[in-house]
Amino acid sequence: MSHHYSSHNTLQNAEYTDVDLHSTEFISNPFPAYQALLQQGSIYQSPSATEYYVVRPSQVERILKDNKTFLSDRTGSFAAKLSEGQHDQVQPLLNSLAKWLLFQDPPKHMPLRKIVNASLSHKLVSSLEPDIRAITRQLVTTMVTEQHNDLVNNLSYPLPALVIARLLGVPAEDILLVKKWSDDIASFTGAQSGIDIAERARASVVEMSDYLQQLLHSTELIENTTVLGNLTQFRQQNDEFTEEDLIANCIMLLFAGHETTTCLINNLWIQLQQHDSQRLDLIRHPELISSAVEEGLRYDGAVHRLGRFIKSDTEIDGIQLQQNRMIYVLLGAANRSPELCERPDKFDIRRKPVRNFGFGFGPHLCSGAALARLEAEIATEELLKLIPEGHVMETPEYHRNLALRSVKSLKIKI
Ligand code: HEM
Repeated sequence: MSHHYSSHNTLQNAEYTDVDLHSTEFISNPFPAYQALLQQGSIYQSPSATEYYVVRPSQVERILKDNKTFLSDRTGSFAAKLSEGQHDQVQPLLNSLAKWLLFQDPPKHMPLRKIVNASLSHKLVSSLEPDIRAITRQLVTTMVTEQHNDLVNNLSYPLPALVIARLLGVPAEDILLVKKWSDDIASFTGAQSGIDIAERARASVVEMSDYLQQLLHSTELIENTTVLGNLTQFRQQNDEFTEEDLIANCIMLLFAGHETTTCLINNLWIQLQQHDSQRLDLIRHPELISSAVEEGLRYDGAVHRLGRFIKSDTEIDGIQLQQNRMIYVLLGAANRSPELCERPDKFDIRRKPVRNFGFGFGPHLCSGAALARLEAEIATEELLKLIPEGHVMETPEYHRNLALRSVKSLKIKI
């Protein structure tokens, strides 16, 4: 394959006229574009020439590891989509996002990350297993008895939402509120933005903050809720970590903690339906569940794209990258790289463990990975027990979200 370099040594766009990373075809099936990009093998610059896209594992790792050059604080890029007046209007939203662990860089990132990780440790997560299973059984049983056949509404959405709500002391009856707020924020961070989307997200962040502030008035709740207890303690020990920081990070956890897991459960189910013999294999060999979830994450996971803000001019493999631009690592593409495994485009639940980027990589590696894996395992196990056939009845439609690979609904045969 010949590579044509421009004067800046980034690839010419002309080579990529066949790759449109915002098209409807891309949203419904990004894999042909991923394949084209993997074959080109180099860093891709968008036709508007304002952002870069990366698919090679070695380059993805390099970018995600170097958090001094490639900043996680990309809240400015959200704001850049807005005019100055609009910018002021949605300031409360931008203020909240700027406090999220997810968007922190050194030196603030690590101390807060330690607290959040400790609040979602393996040990703590394992202790939730019976609860998660009980909630799942109830949800799947209701699907069967009531003939409610949309997997999203009836299992893959409510399960992680109920679990994260419980972890944060949010009463189960309020999860619909949390869902609305989170959906609004997700539209803003993941989709192409307009002022109406930004305005809705702003209103939701404000409402969610007020709601959590009320919740935090209960000392008893804080004492009995590990996440809230840990964050409150962290606040007592760090003057610069304000109540707003604490609330913003609860919003982040409620947000990060559910929609992603929903996608993983859905996307894995779709693959198991498209690979019937493997679904049967998994029913006969339940011990394969964790490797099946891992393959789901690799093959068509939940998070397909992460952004970083380039702080200073730099270069990767001889390609110049200009400061103050966004660079996107396409995790969904990197996971299909032949550099990671053989026959990457084959779905195989018996695959020997291979590295994948489903939970990101490096300093921001997902804090909730243990919880997400457990939820996806239990959801898939219980579905296979009670609805072992569960064929997908309609070709699923995907949300116009470039970061999350998320179906709108998933009707299955009960
Ligand atoms: C299948 C489900 C999930 C997937 C695919 C996923 C994926 C990711 C990815 C790719 C990142 C890295 C973001 C970056 O580098 O910019 C991340 C970060 C994070 N995730 Fe998850 N996540 C999932 C579930 C969860 C759950 C259940 C929680 C919490 C209960 C959670 C909490 C977090 C947090 C707090 C971070 C930020 C870590 C940091 O910035 O240091 N995630 N997640």
